[in-house]
Amino acid sequence: DLTGQINGVPFDRLFLNASGVHCQSTTELDELLQDEFVGGAVTKSATLEKRAGNPAPRYYELANGSINSMGLPNNGFDYYIQYVLQFHAKPTILSVAGLSADDDIQLLNQIQDSDYQGLTELNLSCPNVIGKPQMAYDFEGTQALLQSVFSFFKKPLGVKLPPYFDLVHFDQITAILNQFPLTHVNSINSIGNGLWVDVASESVVIKPKGGFGGLGGKMVLPTALANVRALRQRLNDSIKVIGTGGVQTGADVFAHILCGAELVSIGTQLQAEGIGVYHRLTNELERIMADKGYTALADFRGKLNTI
Ligand code: DHB
Repeated sequence: DLTGQINGVPFDRLFLNASGVHCQSTTELDELLQDEFVGGAVTKSATLEKRAGNPAPRYYELANGSINSMGLPNNGFDYYIQYVLQFHAKPTILSVAGLSADDDIQLLNQIQDSDYQGLTELNLSCPNVIGKPQMAYDFEGTQALLQSVFSFFKKPLGVKLPPYFDLVHFDQITAILNQFPLTHVNSINSIGNGLWVDVASESVVIKPKGGFGGLGGKMVLPTALANVRALRQRLNDSIKVIGTGGVQTGADVFAHILCGAELVSIGTQLQAEGIGVYHRLTNELERIMADKGYTALADFRGKLNTI
């Protein structure tokens, strides 16, 4: 039993894509949903209008992960809401990312006024739009935005968060999130604004923002685990945590679940390995569980030992 649920929506498998990877086109989304080891799919974060994103090269694979500054290339809100309004055999999560708080309100208004009844995720953490800070690092702004959102939004809503690095910040963000009927938080987005230097060419490796970009993959696993754990320890039980960040192996998945993840997303490793990653991770996770005598995620979810 590798299942989870968010707001009563059942996921028969725990695995999702991390938004941004393999989810910009309906073809990519279909491929995810058709894989028997995938539990559901998250759309590329939609903006009000379609966007080409930042100039290439804008994604670069590193020895221990990835760096990207995509700049929100996406086909626009209408494209993605049309997709999730169609019938799919598995749940979808509609990710939206305004370029401002006003845009966020407009996007959510359109969802509220539509026939869509599924899960929505408001991205409060894109680090790659030039001149736009990550909303969820502005606690007052986040409080004010969620206050306006929940004055009219009555459908299932979660948020995507950036990583936090200070225990007081976990206290502060969860004190805000716990005031609202959120279905879930998805943690973490990429670690914003890292820089990779290629010594041979004495150069940065991506073009936008002078080479600065969001970090993902193995190098972010400890940050992701800390965020999943710290959020799970502080959030209302009704707010599920989707664990995202640094998963390369079944053991990494197991660690996310131990920290309290309900579902687990794959980003950098999905980009590197393709859809086959889900079968491999399922086999590796099932082997670890069998060795330990576990038959369900619930046997160990959130049960991390401290010493
Ligand atoms: C992009 C990156 C993010 O981390 C995000 O949350 C949204 C968009 C991007 O660069 O496209």
